[in-house]
Amino acid sequence: MNKSTPTKVARSAAPLTGQRAHEIQAFGSVVPMPIALAEATRRGSAANLNQLLADTITLRDLYKKHHWQVSGPTFYQLHLLFDKHFNEQSELVDLIAERVMMLGGVSIAMSADVAEMTLIPRPPRGREEVPVQISRLLQAHEIVLKEARTMARQAAQESDDGTNDLLVSNVIRTNEMHVWFVGEHLVDGPLVHADGQATE
Ligand SMILES: [Fe+2]
Repeated sequence: MNKSTPTKVARSAAPLTGQRAHEIQAFGSVVPMPIALAEATRRGSAANLNQLLADTITLRDLYKKHHWQVSGPTFYQLHLLFDKHFNEQSELVDLIAERVMMLGGVSIAMSADVAEMTLIPRPPRGREEVPVQISRLLQAHEIVLKEARTMARQAAQESDDGTNDLLVSNVIRTNEMHVWFVGEHLVDGPLVHADGQATE
């Protein structure tokens, strides 16, 4: 007869679930960081980067929405391209968020908070045609590029070279590349018959 014996469990071996406590750092504040940058500089850069982070998370999610919802003759190439850009925007999200923490700040993270902060217009839940999908992406990229250039100049003026480099080398260059790749899909060129007569 297999009679199971009750197992003794030490209290210290059980997970201590359901815990809550006060925040250890408020959003918008910066803690001291020994990186030779003034607190006001770090606070300013962290605030700028959090706005950029909210917009980059939104742009990243817009790419995944379009990756899933795309339709039509260019479905396959756009399905793949949108996911490539989603992954590259995800890398930017991580770089920006970790830069906020390096500066002593608190990075925005959850979608409800992102939705309140982002400057990118909210798309409908339903599906839209490819030209509309791409137009929304181009608009979102331009919002990100405009603010990133302003923030890069501010960071340079404040001698925050690390933030300036992130904005210029990663954010601006990646977004400009993405604009080129998706924007070319809105050129109204002929698919089979050349347009007009050759002059030669
Ligand atoms: Fe997928």
